Amino acid sequence: MWLSNSSVGRKFVMALTGAFLVIFVTFHCLMNSIAIVWPAAYNSVCEFLGANWYALLASAVLAVFILIHIIYAVMLTLQNRKARGNDRYAITRKPKTVEWSSQNMLVLGIVILAFLVVHMIQFWAKMQLAEIAGTEGIIPPAAGTLFLQEAFSLVWTPIVYIIGFIALWFHMNHGFWSMFQSIGWDNNVWIARFKTIACWWSTIVVLLFIAQAIVFSVRAHEEYYKTDPALREQYKEMLVPMIEKDFGPDAAQIAQSFEMMPYEQLSPLVKNQADQLEQQLNNPEAMAYFNSTPQGKEQLENMRRLGEGFGKMSNFFKYLEANDPQPEVPGMPGMQPANR
Ligand code: HEM
Repeated sequence: MWLSNSSVGRKFVMALTGAFLVIFVTFHCLMNSIAIVWPAAYNSVCEFLGANWYALLASAVLAVFILIHIIYAVMLTLQNRKARGNDRYAITRKPKTVEWSSQNMLVLGIVILAFLVVHMIQFWAKMQLAEIAGTEGIIPPAAGTLFLQEAFSLVWTPIVYIIGFIALWFHMNHGFWSMFQSIGWDNNVWIARFKTIACWWSTIVVLLFIAQAIVFSVRAHEEYYKTDPALREQYKEMLVPMIEKDFGPDAAQIAQSFEMMPYEQLSPLVKNQADQLEQQLNNPEAMAYFNSTPQGKEQLENMRRLGEGFGKMSNFFKYLEANDPQPEVPGMPGMQPANR
């Protein structure tokens, strides 16, 4: 087949998949920029791009393009080495006209791939994958800003990301204009123009990514994504689907009342309810009483569901409030409430 057997065909596939990846990276960068100016809107985008069929389809297509791009890159490198045979190292001084990045596209690609592995573990695995697999942790998968909080509160994250972004700059800058050459557009005037566009494009995208890494790190260290009142209201709304899943027959009513209650009121109420239910479920006398009749058993089952639902929500609120200044017990200066 021409696309896999001939060198021109392989370069064409690299150019096509590369063009797609440039578009993806540009969109991704613009989408992340929303999180700088309007974090709540960023969460809405994350919710929209959750485990819906269209988002899953887009992710699958993206994964296939990344895979093809990698496989063809390895094939082309091996083919070039074979063509040069033992003379690969014969010339140690490269001609000045050959750019450094063009010699190192494979290595740059490997650095980007390593960055991607870390990146997927920190975000995609906890968001889209967790939603499909039903392995959500304490944070709702749509709460993108809380995953920013988790990732960028680690000191090494911005360092690893910025190394990845620099490799991306070199890789994208070279790949961008050379893809036009690969598809046969190699007139000198146009290649010079494509080089200028490539440089501007990659620089803007990478500077935006670097700005994001800096802003997210500063905000994560300030615990902004956990403590901002408007974001807390939004996180509370995200619990409604969970309530509908966990709370059994009473779900609709409970979900509605929770939605209406402001975060500051709901949080202590839920934590209190969770503690009370836990106490009851751990009380052997109460258990014996409930287990003695069929109606009691039914009541107990209902209580277990409620206990589980309230427990999850209570843990989530405790996570959000873990570093809040501890409120004092009224009338007792210096004393904090025990149950947080
Ligand atoms: C500050 C920088 C970045 C942030 C904050 C960020 C954030 C995110 C988030 C939140 C997701 C998960 C979306 C979801 O599963 O719903 C994601 C997915 C992804 N990111 Fe990034 N990203 C950054 C940079 C990059 C860069 C530079 C690349 C590529 C070189 C990249 C490639 C990807 C890919 C391939 C996915 C999976 C997309 C999918 O499954 O549809 N990201 N990113």
